[in-house]
Amino acid sequence: MKVTVFGIGYVGLVQGAVLAEVGHDVVCVDVDAHKVERLKQGIIPIYEPGLESLVRENHAAGRLDFTTDAAAAVQHGEVQFIAVGTPPDEDGSADLQYVLSVAETIARHMESRQIIIDKSTVPVGTADKVGARVAEVLAQRGREDLHFDVVSNPEFLKEGSAVADCMRPDRIIIGTGSEHAEEVMRELYAPFNRNHEKIIVMDVRSAELTKYAANCMLATKISFMNEIASLAEKLEADIEMVRQGIGSDPRIGYHFIYAGAGYGGSCFPKDVQALIHTADSIDFDAKLLKAVEARNAAQKTVLFNKIHQHFDGNLRGRTFALWGLSFKPNTDDMREAPSRVLMEALWKAGAKVQAYDPEAMEETQRLYGNRDDLTLCGTKEAALKAADGLIIVTEWQAFKAPDFDFIKQQLSQPVIFDGRNQFEPKRMARKGFKYYSIGRCVA
Ligand code: UDX
Repeated sequence: MKVTVFGIGYVGLVQGAVLAEVGHDVVCVDVDAHKVERLKQGIIPIYEPGLESLVRENHAAGRLDFTTDAAAAVQHGEVQFIAVGTPPDEDGSADLQYVLSVAETIARHMESRQIIIDKSTVPVGTADKVGARVAEVLAQRGREDLHFDVVSNPEFLKEGSAVADCMRPDRIIIGTGSEHAEEVMRELYAPFNRNHEKIIVMDVRSAELTKYAANCMLATKISFMNEIASLAEKLEADIEMVRQGIGSDPRIGYHFIYAGAGYGGSCFPKDVQALIHTADSIDFDAKLLKAVEARNAAQKTVLFNKIHQHFDGNLRGRTFALWGLSFKPNTDDMREAPSRVLMEALWKAGAKVQAYDPEAMEETQRLYGNRDDLTLCGTKEAALKAADGLIIVTEWQAFKAPDFDFIKQQLSQPVIFDGRNQFEPKRMARKGFKYYSIGRCVA
């Protein structure tokens, strides 16, 4: 099938590459000429395991191309994906200007019946707005004869395992009331719908809400555990034991119940805020979602508070080794990363940071530039040099079995602040560390 994808961000690029991999003929279009040129050379703008080779191979095979020529791109596709960003507006609502401008572009250039697929995470009611905008432009062109359907088809990929998630989705949500659109979507996704039925067809609004409900449910699980973790600390219980104890109940499950330094990334914070905003706009008080959001904001300060307390409130002139900058492992993404809140608080308190991350160093440099209180180190070992303590914010594999003797040698005092509960408190105490973690007693 001939497929056009608008927006070469995370979702658009991965979706485009994966559709090409199964044999569809995909053109990805973006306004950023530099990005498009680099992609043609096989250089991808993000770090995502497996993506670069997928892009190169499919581009070389002629199934995946990149362009800035929107008119040609629209005419290429039988289906048009909208996968552009929906950044939060100042008030937390999703900014739809990019989505609607792609809708206009499609309407301006389409010459045959089209299926317009909303892949971006958009508030309930957006498909109607897209449809209205397309109809308006077609009317201006005097081309009301051109049929189109708008389908909501939210994406559930996770950064770091985006290719695998997209290749083997656990569900494919298709929101449409049109039989024709359903048929085309089933054909498009047939290669991914093997072994058992993964396609769930529903009305457009339910599909749009499904995406928010999924992310908000996961964010709620995390905030709930973070709250229980704070309680556990005060009650001298161990959140890691509690986690295993409740996760064994299949109704609760082991996933997304890890207490930590707070959730970040491009989805959870933005989507929780956007759903709160949607609720507000219809005079519905989304009390639970507001609490989830507030809990997470507070959680991002928990590690700093422990550091502050350990040093009796005086961090001026201190230096800290910081391991992990990305919002989670296997990505270089630092959007809403807990590491940022922490570093900014440390700087404000007059401390310096020696930071290391396996992938997010360039991104950190881009975000913060050169400053006296930030040293970007080439290795995790280099970050330790003469630091007053080690802070772990992201649970990269490379941090899981460090040389503790070496750490002790390098630090001015043996103290570790672990925002991801990577080590056993008793073991750390035996090794001679003062060890702070989340939801467990200080060892
Ligand atoms: C998320 C959803 O998982 C995905 O389905 C959706 O399409 C986009 O949003 P992503 O943002 O890539 O994906 O990251 P995810 O792996 O879900 O982690 C989100 C955040 O939650 C991270 O900051 C992570 O550290 C945190 N987290 C996750 C916890 O603090 N505890 C957990 O138990 C799980």
